[in-house]
Amino acid sequence: MTEQTLANLMQETRTYAPPREFATQANGTADQYAAATADREAFWAEQARTYVAWSKDFTQVLDWSDAPFATWFGDGELNACYNAVDRHVEAGHGDRVAIHFVGEPEGDTRDITYADLHAEVQRAANALVDLGIGKGDTVAIYLPMIPEAAVAMLACARLGAPHSVVFGGFSAEALHSRVQDVQAKVVITCDGGYRRGKPSALKPAVDTALEHGDTSVAKVLVVRRTGQDTAWTDGRDLWWHEALEAAAPEHTAIPVEAEHPLFILYTSGTTGKPKGIFHATGGYLVQNAYTNAVVHDVHPETDVYWCTADIGWVTGHSYIVYGPMTLGATQVMYEGTPDTPHQGRFWEIVQDKKVTILYTAPTAIRTFMKWGEDIPAKFDLSSLRLLGSVGEPINPEAWMWYRRVIGGDRCPIVDTWWQTETGAIMISPLPGVSETKPGSAMQPIPGVTADVVDDAGQSVPNGSGGYLVVRDPWPAMLRGVWGDPQRYQDTYWSRFPGMYFAGDGAKKDEDGDIWVLGRVDDVMNVSGHRLSTTEIESALVSHPKVAEAAVVGATDATTGQAVCAFVILRSEAVAEADEPGEGAELVAELRAHVAKEIGPIAKPRQIMVVQELPKTRSGKIMRRLLRDVAENREVGDVTTLADSSVMDLIKTGLGGDGS
Ligand code: PRX
Repeated sequence: MTEQTLANLMQETRTYAPPREFATQANGTADQYAAATADREAFWAEQARTYVAWSKDFTQVLDWSDAPFATWFGDGELNACYNAVDRHVEAGHGDRVAIHFVGEPEGDTRDITYADLHAEVQRAANALVDLGIGKGDTVAIYLPMIPEAAVAMLACARLGAPHSVVFGGFSAEALHSRVQDVQAKVVITCDGGYRRGKPSALKPAVDTALEHGDTSVAKVLVVRRTGQDTAWTDGRDLWWHEALEAAAPEHTAIPVEAEHPLFILYTSGTTGKPKGIFHATGGYLVQNAYTNAVVHDVHPETDVYWCTADIGWVTGHSYIVYGPMTLGATQVMYEGTPDTPHQGRFWEIVQDKKVTILYTAPTAIRTFMKWGEDIPAKFDLSSLRLLGSVGEPINPEAWMWYRRVIGGDRCPIVDTWWQTETGAIMISPLPGVSETKPGSAMQPIPGVTADVVDDAGQSVPNGSGGYLVVRDPWPAMLRGVWGDPQRYQDTYWSRFPGMYFAGDGAKKDEDGDIWVLGRVDDVMNVSGHRLSTTEIESALVSHPKVAEAAVVGATDATTGQAVCAFVILRSEAVAEADEPGEGAELVAELRAHVAKEIGPIAKPRQIMVVQELPKTRSGKIMRRLLRDVAENREVGDVTTLADSSVMDLIKTGLGGDGS
C-alpha cells in the first residue's frame, strides 16, 4: 500500500452508528467486550456452551503451557456434524431450509431442509465407512459449489475423518501435491460444474493427479452434476449417488475429542510449498458459531444468509458450512459466476430468495461498481439488513458504494479481518454496537486481543502503523502446519516472541481503531485469493525456457493486486523469442504453464521478459523495485542494488507484455 493511499485512509472521518432498530435486536452487545476483558477464559467457556452441544462437557478451557501449541476445551468431546445437522432436526427444525441451492443454469434450484441434509450426511458417512474411512483417515474433496460439497465435508466430520478441500480452480498438479501431503485415502469429486454457461469438467484433473501413481488414494467418489462424458477407472471410481443409495440410511455421529483435527486447508506462504493449515474441532466450531451470531448477526429463525465465497477457501468452510449450520441458519448457495447469464445475477438472487445478510469480497464489490449502479437498481434489495466484507482491505470508495447502492444507506457493514490460520473472524465491528468507519475493520471482537506493533514488538501509539499481531491464543486458531511443527513456530510465533504474527501491516487511527493495510510478506491477494510470489516463481522456473523469475503483486483497481512476472530466459529461448511474433507466443506459453502447475487463478496478468533482475549484494531479489516498475511508478531507491544499472535496463528494454 502506498504512502498516498495510507494518507487518504487516515483522512477518512465519516462514521456510521448502527440504526437503533438494528441495535435493539442485535446478538452482539457492548457488554460482551467488558465480559471478555474481565475474564477471557470464562467468556469463551460461556460461548462454547451457548453455541455448541458437547457430548462430554469440558472442565478446562485453555491449556497454553505448551505454547504455541494450544489446547482448547481439552477434555470435552463433540461432533461437528451432529452440531451442524442432527441437533436441529432433534429440536424440531427438520423442515427449515438449510440450503437454497441456486445452480448457474437459470431455474436450476433446489431447497434442502435440515431433515434432507440429515438423511444425506448419514448415507454419505456410511458410504465412506464402506470405503474403509474411519476416524483419523483423511479425505480430499475437489468439488464446485454444489450442496454435495457441504454434505461431503459434514460426512467426514461425522466420522472424525479430517477433510482437505482443494479449490476447484487449482490444477491437477496442485491437487496432486495436496492429496499426497495429507495422504488422502479417498477423493470426492464430480464430473463437472457449470461455469459461465457451460459445463466445466473437473474429474479429468483428478485422473491426471492420480496418474502419478504415488498417492494413497484407493477410491474416487464422483458426484454426477452435469452428466457430461467422464472417463472411468473401474475398481477405483464410484458414483456418489450409487454409493449413497447402497449405504445404510442411519448413522450415529462419532464424538471426538475437542482437539481432534477437523480439517486441513492449504494456503500459500512465503516459500514455494503451500502450508497445510489444520484446525481442531472444538475451538474452531465455537468461534465460528459465535462470530456468525454476533458479527453476521444471524437469527436462524428469520434470516436468509448468503456468503458468496467458494467452499474451497476458508471463508466457505467457516461461513458457509460450520458457522451458519451450527447455528441452524437458512442460507443461499450459488454455483456460478456473478455475470452469468447477466450482470444482475447476484441481485436477482437477493430479490428472489429475500436475502437478509450478504457476505462478499471487496473485489466483487469493485467489479459491481464497474458494471454500474443501474444494474442492482433493477432489483428489489429491500430484504437486506446487514452487509459483510472479507478477504482483502476494502477501500473507502467501495465501502461507501456498497453501503449506498446495495445497502440502501440502511444496512450496517461489517469489514471482517481474519485468515485461513485464524479460522474465524478476529477483527470486525459488532454491527449493533460499533460506529463504523469506511475501510476500517475497527476493533478485535470480544474475546480476541489484537494489536499493532513496531519492529521491536512494542505496541505503537494511536496514529501510527506497524505489524498486526494477536496477543493471546484464541479458540479457532490453527493448531499447526500439517506435518511440520517447526514451520508453524517459525512462521507465526518467532518474529515477535509470545505473539502471533499475521503477516499483515496495519495502522491504528487516532481513536485506536485498526485499518488493515495488506500483506507485508511475499504473499499476494488477487481477487481475495491468496497466492505466493515464490510459488509462482517456482512454477515459472520449472518451464524449460525460463532461467530465472521474479513475481510481484502490483496494485489493480478491480482485483486488489495482480500477478506481474519478470522472467529471464535461457539463452536458447532468447534467440527464439526475438523472432517476430514469437514473444507474445512465449508469454502465452508461460501463462498456460503457470495455470497447469498451480491453476488458472495464478496466471500472471503480465509477463515481462528482461535481461537482469535487481538484486541486493546478498542475491535477494528486490521486489520493491519491480513493483514500482509493474505499477509504472518512478523507481525507488536503488542504492542497495548490486548493479544499479539493472533497473535502467529493465525499464528501457521491457520485452513481451502479456497483458
Ligand atoms: O491480508 C489479509 C487479507 O487476507 C489475508 C488472509 O487470506 P486468507 O487466509 O486467504 O483468508 C481470506 C479470508 C479470511 C490476510 O492476511 N484479509 C482478509 N480479510 C481482510 C484482509 N485484509 C484487510 N481487511 C480484511 N477484512
